[in-house]
Amino acid sequence: MLKQNLLYKKIIFVCVNQREEGACCGPSGGREIREQLKQLVYEKGLKGVVRVSQSGCMDVCAKGPNVMVFPDNIWYRGVTVADVPKILTESLAGLADENKVMKS
Ligand code: FES
Repeated sequence: MLKQNLLYKKIIFVCVNQREEGACCGPSGGREIREQLKQLVYEKGLKGVVRVSQSGCMDVCAKGPNVMVFPDNIWYRGVTVADVPKILTESLAGLADENKVMKS
């Protein structure tokens, strides 16, 4: 086993889980949120800085769609596609000042 630092400054996990019954993030917007986040990361030139990953169930299904940001330990719940720019901006707030990673 090898151990090293993360390759990304931030990893944003978006639940895209789909279940047979009950509330679940995937069909209630999770998949679209993930795609919008990925597109925005690409447009802002943040590939390699921010990783947008799909996740399975985070066990908080009724509060979804759910997005979690690491290493910040932030949980966004009840997310909509309209929230995507704010999530990315907030996730990068410290980095933008520090490294000028955000393109306008
Ligand atoms: S389906 Fe998303 S948290 Fe369970």
